[in-house]
Amino acid sequence: MYQKIGHLNDFKNNQIVTYFYDDREILTVKIQDEIFAVDNICSHAEEQLCEGAVIENEIECPRHGARFNLKTGEATEGPALLPIDTFNIKMSDNGDILIES
Ligand code: FES
Repeated sequence: MYQKIGHLNDFKNNQIVTYFYDDREILTVKIQDEIFAVDNICSHAEEQLCEGAVIENEIECPRHGARFNLKTGEATEGPALLPIDTFNIKMSDNGDILIES
C-alpha cells in the first residue's frame, strides 16, 4: 500500500524534507531526478540524519560522521555498523510521490 507524501514539484535537488509516516520520521531527498526515502534516525546513536549533509548518493550523520547509502540504507562509513531502513517510492501519472508502507 502506498501513501502520498507530496508532488514532484515539491522536491528540489539535494534538499532534505522529512515526513512523519506510520509513527516514523522519514527523510526524503531528490538526487538527479530520483527520490530516496530512508529512516531519519542514525543507527549509531539515534541522531537525526536530516541535519546532516547529502554527499553524492549518501547521507552523512551530523554527530559522528557515519554515512549511509540512500538507496540501500547500508552504512558505508563508521562509526555506524548497522544499516538504516529504506522505503520504496513511486510516482503516479500526475506526479504525486507515493511511499510504500
Ligand atoms: S549518531 Fe550518527 S554517527 Fe553517531
